[in-house]
Amino acid sequence: MNTPGSPAVGMVCTGVRAEERMLAEAFAARNVELHVIDDRTIHGDLSSWPAGFPRVDAVLLRSKGHWRNVAIAHWLESLGAQPVNASRVLETCGDKVLTTLALLGAGVPTLSASIAFSQESGALAAEGVGYPLVVKPVIGSWGRLIGKVNDADALDLALDHKEALGGAPHSVTYLQRFVPTGGRDIRSFVVHDRCIAAIARTSAGWKTNTALGGKATGLTLDPELKRVSEAAAAAVGSGAVAVDVFETDEGYLVNEVNGTMEFRNSVATTGVDIPGFVADFVLEQFAQRAAVAR
Ligand SMILES: Nc1ncnc2c1ncn2[C@@H]1O[C@H](COP(=O)(O)OP(=O)(O)O)[C@@H](O)[C@H]1O
Ligand SMILES: [Mg+2]
Repeated sequence: MNTPGSPAVGMVCTGVRAEERMLAEAFAARNVELHVIDDRTIHGDLSSWPAGFPRVDAVLLRSKGHWRNVAIAHWLESLGAQPVNASRVLETCGDKVLTTLALLGAGVPTLSASIAFSQESGALAAEGVGYPLVVKPVIGSWGRLIGKVNDADALDLALDHKEALGGAPHSVTYLQRFVPTGGRDIRSFVVHDRCIAAIARTSAGWKTNTALGGKATGLTLDPELKRVSEAAAAAVGSGAVAVDVFETDEGYLVNEVNGTMEFRNSVATTGVDIPGFVADFVLEQFAQRAAVAR
């Protein structure tokens, strides 16, 4: 049952994973009616409200896949809705070039990256970055197709593979210097401009993604980590985001910002109710809009 005056919330997702289950529990605990909308059921003309989509007051977007999230966000925004996260945030976070540009533009300590658009220019860009380097698809997650390249021969193969794989994510070559992290980095969580929690991720290999077996342990927030994380979130447009941070001799360096954050391993390890913060953020946004409309 909805509490009088509380909104109906929609959560768009591609099947219900652990995060969506935890979010559903958070809304239930707040007596808020949650409509879980599988994005595979959504369709319709772009000039009108999507078919198969209840008339909710607030929407949380958690589709798997960058373009799907971005398309739904823009569609809903064109009809006056304000999804969490907003299209700008999803667009920026889902694309590593846009993320790097946003972080650099806002003066957030980050790694920077070099980009190129052919095998030849990729080789030239790599000379500027130096070896070892890391090559990444511009769009992608979970550490997929991210490779450490130790020399020009290996780069040649990586660029060959990108060309053979084809498609938009591989049409831009994105290169970064390799940071010797020892298989450890930080994932911090920022909701509504506030860094609420962080974990350290450790792995036997150099990629720390928990999807690849990286282990999460709770981390105490320090003021600098909070500052850098909140600045990174603000740079991509704010919202509910997870920030990947490297600990380096130069201090914290932001690697990327995730717009559809995964936190299944971060609630028990930090003791912070991350889905509760997200639910409260969605409800606060609705309350603010409702107050403006009155
Ligand atoms: N430049 C780098 N130097 C060292 N390790 C890196 C670098 N870039 C990424 N990694 C490692 O690879 C993982 C995946 O890279 P990331 O940029 O976060 O892409 P994804 O979107 O797939 O998570 C990171 O969490 C980190 O452990
Ligand atoms: Mg990452």
